[in-house]
Amino acid sequence: MSIFATDALKEEHALITGATGGIGSETTKVLAEMGAAVTLTGRRKNKLEELAEEIRKATPGAQVYTHSADLVSEDERGQLVESAANAYGPISLLVNNAGVSGGGPVDQLDQKDMERVMNVNYTLTVLLTQLVYESMKKQKKGAIVNVTSLSGLRGTYGETAYAGSKFAMTAFTHSFALEAIEHGVRVNAVSPGFVDTEMGRSSAQKKADRKGRSLEEVIKDSIPSGRMTSPREVANTIAFLLTDAAENIVGDSVKISGGSVMR
Ligand SMILES: NC(=O)c1ccc[n+]([C@@H]2O[C@H](COP(=O)([O-])OP(=O)(O)OC[C@H]3O[C@@H](n4cnc5c(N)ncnc54)[C@H](OP(=O)(O)O)[C@@H]3O)[C@@H](O)[C@H]2O)c1
Repeated sequence: MSIFATDALKEEHALITGATGGIGSETTKVLAEMGAAVTLTGRRKNKLEELAEEIRKATPGAQVYTHSADLVSEDERGQLVESAANAYGPISLLVNNAGVSGGGPVDQLDQKDMERVMNVNYTLTVLLTQLVYESMKKQKKGAIVNVTSLSGLRGTYGETAYAGSKFAMTAFTHSFALEAIEHGVRVNAVSPGFVDTEMGRSSAQKKADRKGRSLEEVIKDSIPSGRMTSPREVANTIAFLLTDAAENIVGDSVKISGGSVMR
């Protein structure tokens, strides 16, 4: 059940990248529950269709469009934005959530992997945003939420490439927000710590292995609340930032970490 009104985003069209993943799928469900028309994207077609079906069942009358795309491809990025606009009109809300982990400790970094992480998490996200921003400027309104990470705000052991890409997204969020607000477009970020998804669990497990401790012990020790954040909690925060209730929140990074940001 949504904590938001079912018509909070009634006139909006939201594009959610990484919709096939843990955080993206929950975000898509929440935005559809709030009345937004949603365009779901990711590379895995079957997953997109399954999610669309789930949303249509859970939220009768939901407007759901799927378009699989590899964001690495310039053509596919262009086709995604164009076909989404054909389906439900210009995109007014954008959730830049697609992302990959990778890299490793500095002495194990290789150029290809670093470039892959930087490319997906930063460069392509900025290029996709550029396309969507064009039409938001014409509408003189829009809201964008970038899913960065606590690793985009402070150092993370063994994750220099990933953290570098997320710091870049934090810088993009804060700098772009200054330009975009002049055109009525709000840009913010959410910066989660460990989230209970495949990516979050594997990253917490890596930390546990390095310390020779169990996953449960590491979670208890590193997160004051004693648990990982759920994908729904991240989705709810994204949804809030997209609504008019957050009208004067501009260029911010909202941390969701069970207090681990203080450790
Ligand atoms: N989980 C955590 O603990 C955590 C913490 C902080 C921040 N984050 C960030 O939150 C976001 C979502 O993470 P998650 O945990 O939900 O991970 P996830 O389940 O692995 O989802 C990642 C998503 O990115 C998409 N993606 C990756 N490469 C792509 C490409 N080239 N083109 C199009 N889509 C691509 C994947 O879609 P396909 O595979 O279908 O292409 C998938 O939907 C990421 O940006 C991540 O860095 C996660």
